[in-house]
Amino acid sequence: MGEDGGMRVVVVNQTGGPDVLTVADREPSPAGPGQLLVDVAAAGVNYMDIYQREGRPPYGRDVPFVPGSEGAGTVAALGPGTEGFAVGDRVAWAGAPGCYAEQVAVPAASAIIIPDGVETRVAAAVMLQGITAHYLCHSTYPVAASDTVVVHAAAGGVGLLLTQMVKMRGGTVIATTSTPAKAELARQAGADYLTGYGDFGSVVEQVTGGRGAAVVYDGVGRATFDASLAAIRPRGMMVLYGGSSGPVPPFELQRLAGAGSLFITRPTMIHYIASRDELAGRAGDLFTWIREGRLSVRIGGTYPLADAARAHDDLAARRTTGKLLLLPG
Ligand SMILES: NC(=O)c1ccc[n+]([C@@H]2O[C@H](COP(=O)([O-])OP(=O)(O)OC[C@H]3O[C@@H](n4cnc5c(N)ncnc54)[C@H](OP(=O)(O)O)[C@@H]3O)[C@@H](O)[C@H]2O)c1
Repeated sequence: MGEDGGMRVVVVNQTGGPDVLTVADREPSPAGPGQLLVDVAAAGVNYMDIYQREGRPPYGRDVPFVPGSEGAGTVAALGPGTEGFAVGDRVAWAGAPGCYAEQVAVPAASAIIIPDGVETRVAAAVMLQGITAHYLCHSTYPVAASDTVVVHAAAGGVGLLLTQMVKMRGGTVIATTSTPAKAELARQAGADYLTGYGDFGSVVEQVTGGRGAAVVYDGVGRATFDASLAAIRPRGMMVLYGGSSGPVPPFELQRLAGAGSLFITRPTMIHYIASRDELAGRAGDLFTWIREGRLSVRIGGTYPLADAARAHDDLAARRTTGKLLLLPG
């Protein structure tokens, strides 16, 4: 916070490329009903933030807006109706807008108290991508020990966490990455087979004796979609959860019959943390695994608020691994 009591935020005044992310001073707003005013220690950078900055349908927002939906920090003030929280609590959240800022009002309903033994930055790094990895392999398609699973972009934010969680459930992971250094990170996360995007279909064929993968977790989208469908066993599931290479063009459902009576879903996190219990349960699992040393969270890059544009550029240009954080302090 500045000496004049103002705070710095990153603001998007018009949608566009990374350079539309500019720093501005704002008056801090008080905590409203049901809100916690939080001093932000770290804000997560996510692909969704890029889509919103670009104004890409259906993610566009009214300008001006402060980007970011994920973070962690310390409660500075409490609005009415925030029982269970206290000033000084360390909290983390996902799905609360306006986090590229020194201070933000977070709905108490979205906030989770960070337990001892979990660093604040690590909590910020795991909320959105960790909860996503959790629901993908526990709820969207609950991985069984006999399953062979494809994880695309396995050195990415979701990818590294998803690989570890599939391994915890006993599945076999075939991981795609674009470089040997990224493949090495996926291997360290537990991936059983490492491959590039051009080869993964034949790796699946070899590993499964021609049967196909039980599920493909595909956050890459346009570039991988067709080969992903072709790699799935009869009655298996295609989980398209993102499009870092671009959106998948319109799709003829009849193709699912010829491909083996496949299931397809396009999940999004909000529906998998629909109740407070579901949010707290998934976050609780993540924090327990971190404390027990069972889940490793890679913070692949940290940036000051003023470098938000560089963070977006790095993420979109495939230069990153694991999680990117903005550090307002
Ligand atoms: N549905 C949900 O609930 C949900 C939640 C979180 C994230 N997501 C989505 O999941 C995806 C991954 O998110 P993330 O934050 O974890 O990102 P990330 O995986 O850390 O970064 C994206 C990665 O995708 C790979 N990639 C392949 N082709 C690419 C291309 N043409 N352009 C850019 N990257 C490409 C790159 O890895 P390589 O260099 O190894 O290819 C890149 O590092 C995004 O599409 C995001 O929107 C969805």
